[in-house]
Amino acid sequence: MLDALSKSFFHALARSKGVERMASRIGMATPTSFARRFIAGESADEAIEAAKAIQAKGMRLTLDQLGESITTLAEAEAATKVYLALIEKIRAAGIDRNISLKPTQLGLDIDQEVCFSNITRILELATRHDFFVRIDMENTPYIQKTLDMFGSVWAKGFRNTGVVLQSAVFRSEEDARAMSTLGARVRLVKGAYKEPAALAHQAKADVDAAFVRIMKVLLAEGTYPAIATHDPKMIAATTAFAAERGIPKDAYEFQMLYGIRRDLQQQLVADGYRMRIYVPFGKQWFPYFMRRLGERPANVGFVLKGILSDRG
Ligand code: FDA
Repeated sequence: MLDALSKSFFHALARSKGVERMASRIGMATPTSFARRFIAGESADEAIEAAKAIQAKGMRLTLDQLGESITTLAEAEAATKVYLALIEKIRAAGIDRNISLKPTQLGLDIDQEVCFSNITRILELATRHDFFVRIDMENTPYIQKTLDMFGSVWAKGFRNTGVVLQSAVFRSEEDARAMSTLGARVRLVKGAYKEPAALAHQAKADVDAAFVRIMKVLLAEGTYPAIATHDPKMIAATTAFAAERGIPKDAYEFQMLYGIRRDLQQQLVADGYRMRIYVPFGKQWFPYFMRRLGERPANVGFVLKGILSDRG
């Protein structure tokens, strides 16, 4: 109940343009500003520097240029060009060739054909340079459209791409089976959005139970699944199931977000597991940042402390 309330509160705050303007001014202003805990920088160069440090600790990467729910095709075109340039920058930097993107950033909400063409352009360059492209999953109005678009790029022959499924959402168990049959790579997450009770579990215990069920489907039948969570219980359930079934540590990977549970990230690497860190960057960091606060209201104290110390 409290989980749902705090999610709603931060999702409402995330829609406030006034709060966004104020936060955007101060959140990343200095190297110690509060949003830097979760966002690797406003530019690709800053993100690449952060990524190099993560890779040096034995972890893998996926870079994400923040931005979502754009309203014009010109913005979708600009975001596509940013991703094409990012691929070149990552190549030049010699870091892990893996990116994540949000379909609404590339125009899904405006024109599905244009979005498909934008993703195809990114996948063509990605294929040429041996990149993997993860298509993030947004809230429920976009799930079917995202999976349809994924189906189209798969039908076009792209195999260096995968989707994300959210355990909170009822349909994901069926989607996980469909993706396993297709042979497509899935990242399993709990789900970051506030969803209606008709479409998604509301209680944390139900979201967690579904996560474990879907994890088992993906590990047993899927293709190199990514188990993306900071929850020690989900991680323990995964390693136990893998051990019980004799699934080797290199047949799947764990993923976590930049700046969250760094202790656990390192511990899993030390224990011989694969760990990929999602490294977000960009000027449009506010909605992403607010979702992280909504997941853990204790982060608000951390942010307030940061704001006060920035002033000092
Ligand atoms: P849960 O929220 O239950 O938290 C478990 C524990 O993790 C907490 O007790 C705390 O210790 C720690 N923790 C979690 N969040 C924290 C935070 N913000 N700050 C500090 N500690 C925190 N979602 C989505 O809808 N679509 C997507 O495409 C993606 N993509 C994605 C990629 C990757 C690599 C990750 C790790 C996550 C996503 N997500 C996502 C987000 C995901 O849906 C979910 O909102 C968060 O991962 C938080 O859920 P947990 O599984 O960590 O569990």
